[in-house]
Amino acid sequence: MSSNPYQEDRGNKDISIGNPKGVGTLQPAKGLSNKKAAAAGTPFLIGENMTGGYGNGPDILHDCTIAVEKGEIAVIVGPNGAGKSTGMKAVFGMLNLRKGRVVLDGEDITKLTPQARVAEGMGFVPQTANIFTSMTVEENLEMGAFIRTDDFADTMAQVYDLFPILKEKRLQPAGELSGGQRQQVAVGRALMTQPKLLMLDEPTAGVSPIVMDELFDRIIEVARTGISILMVEQNARQALEIADKGYVLVQGRNAYTDTGKALMEDPEVRRSFLGG
Ligand SMILES: Nc1ncnc2c1ncn2[C@@H]1O[C@H](COP(=O)(O)OP(=O)(O)OP(=O)(O)O)[C@@H](O)[C@H]1O
Ligand SMILES: [Mg+2]
Repeated sequence: MSSNPYQEDRGNKDISIGNPKGVGTLQPAKGLSNKKAAAAGTPFLIGENMTGGYGNGPDILHDCTIAVEKGEIAVIVGPNGAGKSTGMKAVFGMLNLRKGRVVLDGEDITKLTPQARVAEGMGFVPQTANIFTSMTVEENLEMGAFIRTDDFADTMAQVYDLFPILKEKRLQPAGELSGGQRQQVAVGRALMTQPKLLMLDEPTAGVSPIVMDELFDRIIEVARTGISILMVEQNARQALEIADKGYVLVQGRNAYTDTGKALMEDPEVRRSFLGG
């Protein structure tokens, strides 16, 4: 293994985007890693063979498996309605799985509520309604820290380091921010619990290509601090470029799974999902 595994496979090699020391200032929560050791070969996070749907409705996911290693970026792509968001919700505990399990850092969390999963180190930014628009930027971040009983001022400072515009606008209602800035609020809010795993459902929806690139750069920076990223993206090409691992979902099933690079190069995947 090379000294910096995060610089080998990803498309964006611009050193200026990250902390030049190679490790960011965001810290995953302490005291959460004294779980029983992960079984050999079990990824850091895995939603394994997940089958289930909403309420008593039909199954949306069919034997779907999604995993990510520590400090890596996994990207889920696929057509509208493929079950990408449903897969994320299943990992976060918002679906009753009829089959399968979710394991985080060696612990089976399949039975835990979403709230309990946050306490175990999951941060989730949903696709819609992911900020409180009438609250200020800073209040949104404070809300993000809701489970913490310790002083979170350092974490807030780290979020402002990552997204300096949020510091500038910290007293403005979040609803007054641009689309890209709102997404920064949403990501920052999720980082306030110091997650070990950050789940993002279409973080670049509705933003310009430049803002998308910037957001991806920040996400890479977060991953370099050791936080795992599980991300759904419509901008499949650009997302797979920064992905260690990619999942193509079709009708709730795993259609293709490989490294981001291999998926980008797969003629079938290119033709069907990446516009040629
Ligand atoms: N709350 C819900 N209740 C019932 N069915 C739902 C619910 N949310 C989604 N579905 C259904 O689950 C299927 C998968 O939807 P999902 O939102 O997971 O797709 P997606 O891949 O995220 O799509 P998009 O790219 O449009 O975000 C769809 O058939 C959808 O109608
Ligand atoms: Mg979706």
